[in-house]
Amino acid sequence: MPILSIRTYPDPVLSQVCQPVEAVERSLVELAESMAETMYAAPGIGLAAPQVGHSLNLVVIDTARGEERGTPLFLFNPRIVESSGEAVFEEGCLSVPDYTADVSRSERVVVQALDREGRPISIEAQGLTAICLQHELDHLVGRLFLDRISPLKRALYRKRRLKQLRKASE
Ligand code: NI
Repeated sequence: MPILSIRTYPDPVLSQVCQPVEAVERSLVELAESMAETMYAAPGIGLAAPQVGHSLNLVVIDTARGEERGTPLFLFNPRIVESSGEAVFEEGCLSVPDYTADVSRSERVVVQALDREGRPISIEAQGLTAICLQHELDHLVGRLFLDRISPLKRALYRKRRLKQLRKASE
């Protein structure tokens, strides 16, 4: 599967609300497989379809470590149906180069989605996986972790990023 190019802030596709997947077709499973390859190559622990330019409700994640890594979860039309607790975690994003920040989210979530066979599944997650799911699902409604930090921090990052992009195009 080809490695895809990752869209970065402030690409407008990252702030769009994604379309639901109507049916888990072969072509969408292939897209998910390419996204997984792209995620492993980056490397990252999650990737949402808009990050590779597709405004679709699809995320892939793999929060396993070491030898356990390599079995990605494909989630079509994922949604959070339960959440509880609070956890602060230092987040980064493949679409937000050279930046991390503390973000507060739920400590535990239950997500319902369709798997790669189009079957409904329910996942209960805590810790890093719960954080990752919330981060990736945010992408599907056009939200980045930058939207969950203070306006001042966000403005400073934006300024630095735009300067970096200007320099790169000179
Ligand atoms: Ni991200």
